[in-house]
Amino acid sequence: MTSAPAVIVDRLSGEAVRLFLASIGALDFNLKIKVENKKIFLPLARELTKFEEEQLKEKFKCKIEIVNFEEKPRKPRSILEWLRDKLPPYLLASVPNSWDAVGDVVIVELPPELAEHEKLIAEAILAVHKNIRSVYAKTGAVGGTFRVRPLKLIGGEDKSVTVHREHGAMLVVDVKNVYFSPRLATERKRVAEQVLDGEVVVDLFSGVGPFAIQIALRKKALVYAIELNPIAYECLVKNVKLNNLKGKVVTFLGDAREVVENNVVRTADRVIMNLPERAVDYIDVALKALRGRGILHLYLFEREEDYEARVKEKVLRKVEENGWKVVDIPYVGLVKQVAPRQWHVAVDVEVQANL
Ligand SMILES: C[S@@+](CC[C@H](N)C(=O)[O-])C[C@H]1O[C@@H](n2cnc3c(N)ncnc32)[C@H](O)[C@@H]1O
Repeated sequence: MTSAPAVIVDRLSGEAVRLFLASIGALDFNLKIKVENKKIFLPLARELTKFEEEQLKEKFKCKIEIVNFEEKPRKPRSILEWLRDKLPPYLLASVPNSWDAVGDVVIVELPPELAEHEKLIAEAILAVHKNIRSVYAKTGAVGGTFRVRPLKLIGGEDKSVTVHREHGAMLVVDVKNVYFSPRLATERKRVAEQVLDGEVVVDLFSGVGPFAIQIALRKKALVYAIELNPIAYECLVKNVKLNNLKGKVVTFLGDAREVVENNVVRTADRVIMNLPERAVDYIDVALKALRGRGILHLYLFEREEDYEARVKEKVLRKVEENGWKVVDIPYVGLVKQVAPRQWHVAVDVEVQANL
């Protein structure tokens, strides 16, 4: 019970007074309105001004008194609020305030001091975010050829396959077995918006196809999507069927170098290379895929100091080593931070074959 000033009025006038108090921001929505003996008790969130009180008393037969009210059960707005009485303050300070949501799955990074409370953190996420079905904790870094991150279920159902929505696309993603980052959504849109109808695009490291699908959703383009991880490839094939595409996506399961050499030599206007730790080593492959002039969308990991100069220098050297020239580098941008002072960097490079 909480005591608060209240407007007490006959039941018959109750609704009109309630509306008036709500319209001037004076009704306390955290307390339950009380009805007793044909009277209604409306809790006040603040003191009324003299003018407001006069208006009220002029129109309605009412009085203002201190009354006891029951508090309304309030849904916690954040996991911190939910956890407030369940963890000591020094641990509350470590509770993460952001995570990756992929479809109805949350992937969260917990600091070591919260490890023994992981189930409670998952419970909090599931309680506050009703659209979430599974909560996984990161247990290591993204690694291996398939760029997969080890995850551990800490709450909800152990169902790692979900459907993620991104700028009008539906993407089947198996979070435990493929690479996928929702934080690249803006970057994928940026690239997709540059593609024109009629273009041929090669996505060398397509994963579940988020670039390929974004492009084919918007443009009558032909996208060759290449992926080595069989599980990511399975998702890619499903995603091509799932979305209502204007363009066409042709999928290949295999190594980008072999697939290009056997299928898409001198075909493309644009090549996407989102495998940051190895993309530079595949510039020769990307150039083989291009018709003679085109755009490379290349991704690298770089330290933040002078990243722009270093990226340009690396790309220029590799392109020239392969007998092509750089016509322009119209864009170098930061996509996301991957470690302290380390960034996932995007670079657009316009290249031309030396005749
Ligand atoms: C960083 S992920 C990017 C996936 C996707 N482009 C995205 O934005 O979500 C790189 C992908 O390249 C795949 N990959 C690694 N080596 C490859 C290769 N030699 N040929 C084709 N795909 C490869 C991995 O399995 C992984 O799915």
